[in-house]
Amino acid sequence: MKNICVLVSGGGTNLQALIDAQNRGEIKGGKISCVISSKEGAYALERAAKAGIPSVVIARKDYSDSKTYSEAILAELNKQKADLVVLAGFMTILDKCVTEAYSYKIINVHPALIPSFCGEGFYGLKVHEKALEYGVKVSGATIHFVNEEADAGAIILQGAVDVANNDTPETLQRKIMENVEWKLLPKAVSLFCEDRITIKDGKAFVDL
Ligand code: GAR
Repeated sequence: MKNICVLVSGGGTNLQALIDAQNRGEIKGGKISCVISSKEGAYALERAAKAGIPSVVIARKDYSDSKTYSEAILAELNKQKADLVVLAGFMTILDKCVTEAYSYKIINVHPALIPSFCGEGFYGLKVHEKALEYGVKVSGATIHFVNEEADAGAIILQGAVDVANNDTPETLQRKIMENVEWKLLPKAVSLFCEDRITIKDGKAFVDL
């Protein structure tokens, strides 16, 4: 069984999707062993408690820079003996001390079709605001490995939704979460835990 650590910052609906999938027996070969939050009081912490999953708060505001913060995260991941790290609405960019130590072992969910609307500054609702501002007719979400560059690691799974004329950032966000994120994140986590993802020339290939 692989040890899964889930990193969160906010509401935790993606964490909930992982917990629900685990309860349905859909995370094969892995178990969520710990939730780490970058914010005290994040609702995701309540979701973890309700599911009986231990949690730790490592508050970003307690650290002066990304490097010292990432070192604290790295120490916790090592302590937890994490086999897989899932960034589920984790709003802090991790320094390379973490991405190098856990190379191809960190999975992120990004709420757009990478390489569109991604990179530094593109997170949460802002991503959907930018997509609507541009006028795209299709958007979606990407599940990818995390490397030292924001949203640039190998893509594992992507899914798309149509953008409606009357979509707002909030309705588009909800549509993408429901139709793509909450389905594909648990699926990618299970694929990883079943060793069904292969890396070749920096790209991820899934044995579906
Ligand atoms: C999700 O839409 C996730 O894709 C996005 O934030 C939301 C978190 O929701 N993540 C990013 O923008 C990361 N760059 P949640 O806390 O309810 O899972």
